[in-house]
Amino acid sequence: MAKKIVLAVGLPGSGKSTYFKKRGIVPLSSDWLRVVLADDATEQRFQKWIFMALRYLLRLRLALGRHVSYIDATNLTRPERRHYFRIAKRYGCEVEAVYFDAPLEVCQRRNRARGRRVPEEAMLRLAARLCPPTLAEGFRRITTVHADGRTTTVVA
Ligand SMILES: Nc1ncnc2c1ncn2[C@@H]1O[C@H](COP(=O)(O)OP(=O)(O)OP(=O)(O)O)[C@@H](O)[C@H]1O
Ligand SMILES: [Mg+2]
Repeated sequence: MAKKIVLAVGLPGSGKSTYFKKRGIVPLSSDWLRVVLADDATEQRFQKWIFMALRYLLRLRLALGRHVSYIDATNLTRPERRHYFRIAKRYGCEVEAVYFDAPLEVCQRRNRARGRRVPEEAMLRLAARLCPPTLAEGFRRITTVHADGRTTTVVA
């Protein structure tokens, strides 16, 4: 079985962490690393260090022979996702995406209803940056989780 990296792609509130939790998956999570490194899941100052640590841990997992590694971060743009294709190439992995295609209004509603809240203006800014994953980008498989919970999958 080929090793793989599975990237979540989706806005805050789109359901990424809930999806992993429901399945008993422990992903490499940027929010968890914000807590570990900066004592605060909402800390936005140390992005570079947070993602450096996340990818370091991913490379360690691959070096240790782990077959599947999940990344729980928004991964909204191609440049953000490109790092993982580079790592995958080095370790002979495939890259898959799970795309959380919840409309902005749904993400906003869920975001308002939870404890750790992303500011409204940040939600709008992030929504404008969101670029859905495509097979052309290099993903071997893209699973889309729709707003009603249905999933569809495309494979390269
Ligand atoms: N399918 C769903 N239906 C209804 N509510 C959901 C669903 N998925 C998640 N939620 C709720 O929406 C809120 C946000 O979900 P979650 O924390 O999984 O989002 P997230 O994508 O991980 O956000 P972030 O990027 O900010 O970490 C939570 O309160 C969660 O309970
Ligand atoms: Mg989350």
